[in-house]
Amino acid sequence: MKPIQVGLLGLGNVGGGVYEVLRRNQEEIQRRAGRGIEVAMVSRRDVAKARAMVGHTAQVVADPRAVIANPDIDIVVELIGGYDLARELVLEAIAAGKHVVTANKALLAMHGTEIFAAAHAKGVMVAFEAAVAGGIPIIKALREGLTANRIEWIAGIINGTTNFILSEMRDKGLDFGVVLKEAQRLGYAEADPTFDIEGVDAAHKLTLMSSIAFGIPVQFGKAYTEGITQLSSIDIRYAEQLGYRIKLLGVTKRTSAGIELRVHPCLVPSKRLIANVEGPMNAVLVQADAVGTTLYYGKGAGSEPTASAVIADLVDITRLHTADPQNRVPHLAFQPDAMSDLAV
Ligand code: NDP
Ligand code: HSE
Repeated sequence: MKPIQVGLLGLGNVGGGVYEVLRRNQEEIQRRAGRGIEVAMVSRRDVAKARAMVGHTAQVVADPRAVIANPDIDIVVELIGGYDLARELVLEAIAAGKHVVTANKALLAMHGTEIFAAAHAKGVMVAFEAAVAGGIPIIKALREGLTANRIEWIAGIINGTTNFILSEMRDKGLDFGVVLKEAQRLGYAEADPTFDIEGVDAAHKLTLMSSIAFGIPVQFGKAYTEGITQLSSIDIRYAEQLGYRIKLLGVTKRTSAGIELRVHPCLVPSKRLIANVEGPMNAVLVQADAVGTTLYYGKGAGSEPTASAVIADLVDITRLHTADPQNRVPHLAFQPDAMSDLAV
């Protein structure tokens, strides 16, 4: 069977990671997906840099619309970011009958309702595991693993940049601005880092989780949003002396008045697990009626952790397009490979 054909819009931190991990783990990914996944076309403004990254393995173009217009492309992966152009491209891809994978939480928090409705009408998928908590499969957990539960609340550290800043200020006594620059250099921060430090990025992600958990529309405008720009090293030190760590938390929960959505710095007792989540790591706690509390921890930002989540979506969509119906439910398709002989 011909490999499924993927077009990448954007080949920056995340796009570059997707290309590299797909190349490196090609065989395992193909075995799990039941079919090959091939990056056939990439788009970035700097075509020379894109060419240097992918050589002649894929067609390189500057104009992302050329990817969408290519009838051979089955899945469009939007990794450009931002609201306006990304919205147009995603809607055009859907109208062209292509599945879409995106890591763009800003786009979905603002235009998710319109985009999901368009995808539903056209019968294509819009998958966004990478949009929340980077490499942590939290969307899958909420949709699949916890599907039997009534969710009561979700609380967590869902922005890697601000957690990295707070950790570095506390541990190394570094200045806010210095650590922010380092987060940008490491590829954690948004193109507009005010989204990170003012809590907007965390609110985007919280809105998406809340919509899935509670079955409500995506309502970014309703979230109370406060970032970490008013905090100083003295606040962090005093908190420490009193037995607390300051963490930027996103919280959404059922109340008698409706669903609460808020992002703001919190004092967390130092002995709590979540207080000890450091650097660009994320952690999400989910309280649900049947299972109780579950905790999801991992890298919340960065090239390959985010690529891991993007590729998980690509594999899910590819499974729907394989000849073997058993493959559509991964555990039914499980076949031990040669490595299992080496188990001790
Ligand atoms: P980058 O800025 O590193 O990459 C953006 C890419 O898009 C670049 O290759 C850029 O090309 C390309 N691009 C921008 N504008 C255009 C255009 N008009 N036409 C064609 N190509 C264009 O961003 P990231 O990879 O960090 O982020 C991508 C998305 O992933 C964003 O939505 C972000 O929120 C999300 N995300 C990022 C995470 C991270 O850790 N970085 C984690 C989770 C989600 P060029 O450089 O040539 O201009
Ligand atoms: N800027 C985001 C963060 C990227 O720092 O968490 C991951 O969504």
